[in-house]
Amino acid sequence: MLIKSAEFVCSNTQVGKLPAPSMPEYAFIGRSNVGKSSLINALLHKKGLAKTSQRPGKTQLINHFIINDDWYLVDLPGYGFAQTSKKNRAEWEKFIRQYLTRRENLQCIFVLIDSRHEPQKIDLEFCCWLGEQGLPFLLVFTKADKQSGVKSDQNVAKFRRALLNWFEEVPQHFITSSETKLGTGEILIAIDEINGSFEAPVIQH
Ligand code: GTP
Ligand code: MG
Repeated sequence: MLIKSAEFVCSNTQVGKLPAPSMPEYAFIGRSNVGKSSLINALLHKKGLAKTSQRPGKTQLINHFIINDDWYLVDLPGYGFAQTSKKNRAEWEKFIRQYLTRRENLQCIFVLIDSRHEPQKIDLEFCCWLGEQGLPFLLVFTKADKQSGVKSDQNVAKFRRALLNWFEEVPQHFITSSETKLGTGEILIAIDEINGSFEAPVIQH
């Protein structure tokens, strides 16, 4: 898919104030600092569109971007941010879980996982929760430029194997780098395919 335009639309903390669900939507989620915002910028060829930071906890709102006037990409705050208070974390959980379970036009959730690490409990638990909710997701392993391809492949295989304890089938995965743009074309192909079968939800008044 060619990216002809990519624009920031709005930031929200309230699920009730999101843009009308008239176009297909995709959300990027994962641990704080895993590289969600960087990967969004790499996909869209627009440095600085989604705000990135070396300090975890940079993205704190539901941020909507509109691509090609045709679909939404959403940058979410990261989970597992150690420096935040229990109260903040509980609020994060509530509003992100509300967003993920109630957003009618959400087609697929991209779960980002750091390819440098062995499977982490917090990521596995989050995938299990998505599975329990019946929410469609795909796996995206990030920061692959930081180590050898062999190491990334090993960690990916371990993560997939761990998920098989809960899932009969493990979703498709992508190995990516925002630095080299590895895997970004494949993610856009997956989105393009899903866009092709989107039917706008009937809005109840
Ligand atoms: P929060 O919004 O805080 O949850 O973080 P995030 O997941 O959006 O991460 P962000 O994109 O802000 O990136 C965090 C740090 O990792 C930044 O310093 C990025 O430059 C770096 N980073 C992200 N992706 C990559 C990558 O593919 N390769 C390398 N080498 N660094 C990356
Ligand atoms: Mg971010």
